[in-house]
Amino acid sequence: MRALVLDGGFGFQNLNIAERERPEPGPGEVLVRIAAVSLNYRDLLLVEGSYNPRQTMPVVPTSDGAGIVEAVGPGVTRFSPGDRVVNGIAEGWIDGAPSAGGLKTIRGGPGGDGFCADYVLVPERALFAVPDHLSLTEAATLPCAGITAWCAVVEHGNVRPGGTVVVEGTGGVALFAMQFARIAGARTMVLSSSNEKLDRISDLGADVTANYVEVPEWSRAVRENFDADGADLVVELGGAATLENAMRSVKPGGTVALIGNLSGSHAPLNLPLAVMRQVRLQGITCGSLGDMARMMAAVATHRLKPWVHETFPLDRYRDAFELMRAGGHVGKIVIALDPDA
Ligand SMILES: NC(=O)c1ccc[n+]([C@@H]2O[C@H](COP(=O)([O-])OP(=O)(O)OC[C@H]3O[C@@H](n4cnc5c(N)ncnc54)[C@H](OP(=O)(O)O)[C@@H]3O)[C@@H](O)[C@H]2O)c1
Repeated sequence: MRALVLDGGFGFQNLNIAERERPEPGPGEVLVRIAAVSLNYRDLLLVEGSYNPRQTMPVVPTSDGAGIVEAVGPGVTRFSPGDRVVNGIAEGWIDGAPSAGGLKTIRGGPGGDGFCADYVLVPERALFAVPDHLSLTEAATLPCAGITAWCAVVEHGNVRPGGTVVVEGTGGVALFAMQFARIAGARTMVLSSSNEKLDRISDLGADVTANYVEVPEWSRAVRENFDADGADLVVELGGAATLENAMRSVKPGGTVALIGNLSGSHAPLNLPLAVMRQVRLQGITCGSLGDMARMMAAVATHRLKPWVHETFPLDRYRDAFELMRAGGHVGKIVIALDPDA
């Protein structure tokens, strides 16, 4: 079978399609014929070496996969050959607060090989049925970006009908955050560096948009458009360049969900903005299998459609990564191992 393998060092010169033995499922395991994997920013960082400089190799990148059950091992009861499935990202994080051990089970990195291979073994507990309204390409976008946005908005953000949510950027996590906030009944403001992308985001349902390059002090735009006190939740993806604006955008008692570090990992923190206004800084790291089950139920109930910007065949994996590096996308980038996914 084919697998996309990083071996011999970091860098795209060391990322190649290799031939591997097809695995056989053991007790409690499911063999999945992978149809599609989605890319997350972390996959780019993993290949370049900045996600985890101590990453062991060889490793198959990508944490998210959807496909068809090929075979099941002894004791598997919830799935049968032919079922359409998607993975939960942290196989050892069952529910509730994360543990250090659970976080080490994220596939395509600390938890070992990821999903960019024709066949992958997954423990039964970490698989979820794909709702009928989704293609496998769409389902493959959910495990990392989807669950991260779900946890920021729903599990930890406590967003209510009539609430207000600010989302930074137009990538994978950002678009899911906008979609989940809308399901929760909140109004959304989406920020982008591109007016062309903002036009598309308005079509996809953003209530308010702003260009964070043209309006560097965008916290003012948040107050002008939502409430003089600010927004209930800011989904913080930019990191160093955006944290100050995020803190100034959130209302007293509101939440800043700390998720990304797109512009750098070290940012000065203006403490009174948090302390004197009782603002909650909530770190988010993906989500548990329990979070995934609740998100999948919401996705099915609301027939939520992930936004896939472009799908690449496996042999064009470099183009997929390059598109992510260039930031030319809106929503998710997918690599299809099955051309009919
Ligand atoms: N903690 C977690 O569990 C977790 C999980 C998933 C992702 N993340 C992190 O979240 C971030 C986004 O990940 P992703 O996979 O959604 O990435 P992505 O799809 O590549 O999206 C990146 C987008 O973010 C926007 N952006 C870049 N710099 C920005 C800035 N300074 N201010 C505001 N927006 C900016 C850009 O949007 P425009 O082109 O519209 O400007 C860019 O296209 C990354 O840092 C990633 O590592 C963390």
